[in-house]
Amino acid sequence: MIANPLTSAPPLASVPSASSDFLSDVIAGLSSEPRTLPCKYFYDERGAALFQKICELPEYYITRTEIDILDRYRAEIASQLGPNIELIGLGTGAGTKTRILIEALEKPAVYIPVDISEKQLRKSTALFRKTFPNLEIQPVCADYLQPVALPSTRHKAKRNVVYFPGSTIGNFEPDEAAMFLGRIANVCCENGGLLIGADLQKDRHILERAYNDAKGVTAQFNLNLLTRANRELGADFDLGRWRHRAIYNSSAGRIEMHLVSEIDQTVHVADYEFRFRSGEQIITEFSYKYTPEGFTALARRAGFEFARMWTDDARLFGVFYFTCSRGR
Ligand code: AVJ
Repeated sequence: MIANPLTSAPPLASVPSASSDFLSDVIAGLSSEPRTLPCKYFYDERGAALFQKICELPEYYITRTEIDILDRYRAEIASQLGPNIELIGLGTGAGTKTRILIEALEKPAVYIPVDISEKQLRKSTALFRKTFPNLEIQPVCADYLQPVALPSTRHKAKRNVVYFPGSTIGNFEPDEAAMFLGRIANVCCENGGLLIGADLQKDRHILERAYNDAKGVTAQFNLNLLTRANRELGADFDLGRWRHRAIYNSSAGRIEMHLVSEIDQTVHVADYEFRFRSGEQIITEFSYKYTPEGFTALARRAGFEFARMWTDDARLFGVFYFTCSRGR
């Protein structure tokens, strides 16, 4: 899919028929072995609000820690990225982190936020235009998992820097992550860079607490996938018969989120029937955690050179800067 800049796109033109994708993805996922449901469907309106609540939980250190790192090292980060850059933000949402970054940058030339939610993009763009009246901002409404055509800009930047915060890269399997970073490398080639947040490997208790919070918000977030399937696809998941579980698989280096069937039961989705045994699980999300070395090796496979990593005192989270020297 080629994205249009927001300014010239008719409403919702760049958003594909989301519900039919949802149906075929749910059928395919529940038919596969092991059974899965894709985590990208967590984020309907309620899911996005629940994720927002997760970010504020005491156990969920990720968002808070990444913001603290940016805040603390913004001057160093800005001098590493250099003056006069084109900043391309992937899935930057409301822009809390990007705002800290842009405030610190020396004479940024252009900012291109890429986001799938048109509503979110309009809101954050309006806010950023107010906050940074002299900055050229060219929003692109697109799914950054698909090839995205970048708009031409009035200001010519010295280099392109892609910003991918939030440890979203952790949702990819490592091979997919390397491929995805390889596509990013095409965007920032020839002295460009990649500023990316990744969650670090750590004590399993800290990790498992972060994904099994005491208030049960993460459980609601996980179960919301079934609520959404019931509402949008007419499925008949019995919400009282499914349980949230998150465990750290230390050999794979990932948190695995599951929905576990509490009884033998049958679920209908469109014309399909799925039988679940008591204790059977659906995998809903992987969230990979990296060592600094492991993440650097992954980025190198994609054509990036390690430049710097900024972290917090407890080394919970890493903000990495990689440079790209290869040609297009
Ligand atoms: C948005 C992918 C970074 O993996 O921590 C939070 C999503 N899942 N709690 C993560 C999530 C459960 C989150 N990411």
